[in-house]
Amino acid sequence: MHLTREEESALNGESGIAIQTAMGLLIDVGEFYDADRLIPIESTHISGVSYLTGGDGLVDILDFFVEKGARTKVYSTLNPSGMDRDNWKNHFIDLNFATKQFRILRNFEAMGVSTTCSCTPYDFGHILTKGQHVAWAESSAITFANSFFGARTNKEDSLTVLSASITGKTINYGFHLSENRIPNVLVNNESNLKEYADYSILGEIVGKEFNHLPFKFGAIPLFKGIKSPRPFEMKGLGAALASFGTHLFHIENITPEIELYNNLKHSDFQEEITVTDDMIEEMYENFKPPVDSQIAVIGCPNASYEEILEVVELTKGKKVLPNKEFWLFTNRAQRALAESSNIIEELQERGIKILVDTCPEVTPYDKSRFSSVLTNSVKAQHYISAPSLNNIPTYILPIRRIVEVMFE
Ligand code: F3S
Repeated sequence: MHLTREEESALNGESGIAIQTAMGLLIDVGEFYDADRLIPIESTHISGVSYLTGGDGLVDILDFFVEKGARTKVYSTLNPSGMDRDNWKNHFIDLNFATKQFRILRNFEAMGVSTTCSCTPYDFGHILTKGQHVAWAESSAITFANSFFGARTNKEDSLTVLSASITGKTINYGFHLSENRIPNVLVNNESNLKEYADYSILGEIVGKEFNHLPFKFGAIPLFKGIKSPRPFEMKGLGAALASFGTHLFHIENITPEIELYNNLKHSDFQEEITVTDDMIEEMYENFKPPVDSQIAVIGCPNASYEEILEVVELTKGKKVLPNKEFWLFTNRAQRALAESSNIIEELQERGIKILVDTCPEVTPYDKSRFSSVLTNSVKAQHYISAPSLNNIPTYILPIRRIVEVMFE
C-alpha cells in the first residue's frame, strides 16, 4: 500500500501508541484486500457497544485506547448499547451488566465519540451526501448509508471502525470504488408492499435467494417495481438484506446512483427473481407465531418519529394486555420529537415501554418471563433467536396484527 509521509510516521509510533496501533490494523486489513491506499473520511459510526455482545474483551480494548490517549479525528456516533441508560433498572438489567456497560460508554466519551447509542445515526443530524466517503459499522446503517444516501462505506467491524475514527482514514477498496457498486442481481417486484413488515419480508426473500452467490462484496440488487417507499420502509428493507450480507441496493428511479444502473442490459445481471404477493404471504406463514408470546418488540432499526406516530394511531383507545409487554425501541432524538408533542406520555399510559440507547438484539431478556418474542422486523427475528445472543424463538407479524394480539 502506498502510505503518505504522515501515515508512515503514524505507523512508526511518532504520534503515539494509540494511533500507531490503529494505523497498523488498517494497513494489515488493507494489504489483505490488496488496497492501494488509505483515504480520508468524513465520519464514522461505531458498533461493538453492548456489553452483551462485546463482554470483558471490549472493556479491555477500550481501556487500552483511552489509557493511550486515543481521540477521534472525525465526527463519530455510537451504536446501541445493551440498556437504556436512564431506565435500565425497569428492564430487568442486573447491576454487573449495567456497571460494565457504563464503563464502556465512559470510554467512548473519553475518546470524543458522540454517545448517540442508536443504529440510525442519520436521526442525529449525521446526514450523508452522495459520493461521500465514510466508515460505518452496524449493518443496517451501512446499507442505508450506501443505498438511500449514495454515500460510500464498507462493512466495517468494531475494530476497523475504531481505527478509522482514531486515524480519520479508511481503506480504499470495496464500496469506496464505483465499479464495486454496480447492481449484479435483478428483482422484479410485483407484490403490493403496504407496510414496514412487508419491506422487511421482501428483504428476507431477496437475501435468501442470492446469498449463496460468490460475489466478493455481496449481492447488489436492483429493485424494479417499487413505487414510493417511505424512508423508514427502505431502512427496514436494508436491515433485512444486511442480515444476508447485502450492504448496498438500488431501487429504480428512487435511490441516487442512477448512473450505475441506468444503462445496464438484462444480460448484465447474474440472476433474477420476481417477487409476488403470494411469496410475501408464504414467508409470513413461515414466521407464524404461537398465540402466547409474552412480549413484542418494535424498532429494529430504531423507530423513527413516523413509526412512533403509526404506533400511536394503531393503539388509540387500547391498552397492553396484563402479563404482556410491548417495547418500542427508538433513540433520544426521535423520542425528543415525540415528547414535544406529548406522544410519549400517551403511549406510556397505554402500557407501552419506550426504550432508548439500546436495541431489541443487544438487550438481554429475562427468559423466565419471556419464552417467545413477536416483532415486525426480519433482522430482529434473526438476531433475537440467534443461539449466540438471546436465543429466544422470535416471530414476525405486521404491526397491526401485533397490536391485535398484544392489546385489549
Ligand atoms: Fe439496529 Fe439492533 Fe436492529 S442495531 S438494526 S435495532 S438489531
